Amino acid sequence: MKIAVLGTGGGARAHAARLVELGHEVFASTRDPEATLARTEPDIMGNVPYSQWLADHPGITLKSFGDAAGAADLVINGIDGHNAVAALTAIADRLAGKTLIDYAVPYVYQHDSEHPWPTPWGVMPKLEPCDTDSLAEQIQRALPATKVVKSFVTQEQSTVVDPASVGEGDHTMFVAGDHTDAKQQATDLLTSYGWSDILDLGPLVCARGMEMYAHMHSAIGFSLGQQFGGHFGIKVVR
Ligand SMILES: NC(=O)c1ccc[n+]([C@@H]2O[C@H](COP(=O)([O-])OP(=O)(O)OC[C@H]3O[C@@H](n4cnc5c(N)ncnc54)[C@H](OP(=O)(O)O)[C@@H]3O)[C@@H](O)[C@H]2O)c1
Repeated sequence: MKIAVLGTGGGARAHAARLVELGHEVFASTRDPEATLARTEPDIMGNVPYSQWLADHPGITLKSFGDAAGAADLVINGIDGHNAVAALTAIADRLAGKTLIDYAVPYVYQHDSEHPWPTPWGVMPKLEPCDTDSLAEQIQRALPATKVVKSFVTQEQSTVVDPASVGEGDHTMFVAGDHTDAKQQATDLLTSYGWSDILDLGPLVCARGMEMYAHMHSAIGFSLGQQFGGHFGIKVVR
């Protein structure tokens, strides 16, 4: 399948690399490919410059967000959550009729926060929107011709693409969305990654809970003595 991964962060890199391994045609993407390839410094998360990473991962083509989405059958959103709605709205025509699996968190970084956390930003970001809306619902409203599925977001993406790396894969992944066929596409992709316990939470409104879990994910990771971006699983026991 032709799959676009929107974003050049650590999460997007994990998906792109795994999708190539699985035999897909993968279009990685960024705002400005030339500018991204010219970067020589690691990003804030310590990821190596993109050109270096790309050289180590043959078979991945880097395009602009719009060109990647336009060339793909299925699209994964890994654009920084605070900027995702604007970036996706700008390429709405290239996403029309397609499934978009969104794993972004709508973090807003408040550096004057009185709640310092051991994140790379030194604070625990706040979520906006939260409670009465979610990023996934905002994206769906902005892109009515696209089928938005929220998934992947309750885990580090390195765990999402390799569930067996934690607890022999015995943990739970979630999907939510208003389009049954699109949720099935997300579920099929997760199954190909190795997930066996995939819980359909129902409509896209359930993305609120998944996004709000971000705080708990960080808290659990820190309590386990892990860095921001902890590598562990959660299991719904029933
Ligand atoms: N990393 C994970 O494992 C993980 C796990 C769960 C959830 N998430 C969430 O998923 C999202 C992506 O995370 P990530 O770590 O893969 O990458 P990230 O570093 O959070 O985001 C990088 C991407 O956002 C784009 N971006 C930044 N500012 C932008 C702007 N003003 N306009 C358009 N695009 C912009 C960048 O574009 P350029 O390529 O042009 O620089 C880059 O492609 C975040 O919301 C994160 O909280 C990540």
